[in-house]
Amino acid sequence: MTGDFAHREGVIWLDGEFVRWQDATLHVLTHALHYASSVFEGIRVYGSKIFRLTEHTERLVASAAELGCVLPFTVPELDRAASELAARNGMVDGYLRPVAWRGSETMGIGAPGTSAHVAIAAWEWPEVFEPGAKLDGISLHVSRWRRPPPECAPVRAKGAGQYAIGTLARNEAEAAGAQDALLLDHRGHLTEATGANLFLVVDGELHTPVPDCFLDGITRRVVIGLARSYGIRVVERHIPVGELESASEVFLTGTAYEVQPVRSIGGLTHASASRPGEVTRTLAFRPGEVTRTLADAYAKLVRS
Ligand SMILES: Cc1ncc(COP(=O)(O)O)c(C=O)c1O
Repeated sequence: MTGDFAHREGVIWLDGEFVRWQDATLHVLTHALHYASSVFEGIRVYGSKIFRLTEHTERLVASAAELGCVLPFTVPELDRAASELAARNGMVDGYLRPVAWRGSETMGIGAPGTSAHVAIAAWEWPEVFEPGAKLDGISLHVSRWRRPPPECAPVRAKGAGQYAIGTLARNEAEAAGAQDALLLDHRGHLTEATGANLFLVVDGELHTPVPDCFLDGITRRVVIGLARSYGIRVVERHIPVGELESASEVFLTGTAYEVQPVRSIGGLTHASASRPGEVTRTLAFRPGEVTRTLADAYAKLVRS
């Protein structure tokens, strides 16, 4: 197996058929490639069991609907395909990537009559960050790229178009020596990282931004439920970037990231003030009791 995702061994489910990995290809004049008319999901498999499969499949269908695209498969059909694919690939611990897109019938921007397609791929993918990150935390860099308001983008969809901002922000963060980016919204409020939601611990309570212009993650909702079951008060609100100073712990949540502690956030002045070029500040955090409790509870839940 090579690192190149186009050249691997295995099978991919494509529009109702299992095909050889290398045969799951598209034409260059596919609407989705030019106009980002595509949505996707990321799903984890733990101990041969798919975690929250139906919630992810429902979100895939809902994301496509946000882009005006009706998928030619039902949620139960897609769930069955994902389960069979994981089994055929002998997957114990891994990752599933469903993706849906508009086909090649037109090169017009409006897409009346284009066909909708769905594929699901599966691969082994144990950790997002290097070993040790789960304990020590990762470094974030506040991006100059911002999440657009709901009037400017289909923010509820897990759509390929939104990830153009994520890629720019992630590249910028890595160039600044950080592991991931933290994005603000158009108002200067905290939102999320490039592929995970954000939580702050403030005076023993859990504070998390209202997901009104970014993805309301499935892991986010699970972790909110876990926190409440431990008697931790959860506050969903708009959080100005300056409030990071009052947090004692910071962590991210996502299917791929799981519960991921954050050890530092840099680039603060750059993004929060209107004086570019000013020396930036970095805040440091330690994973504390709340982060550890929720990380452990989540790790137990996904394998239960
Ligand atoms: C931009 C973004 N935000 C948040 C999340 C977390 O969502 P979930 O917990 O459903 O994986 C993801 C991951 O899919 C993401 O890509």
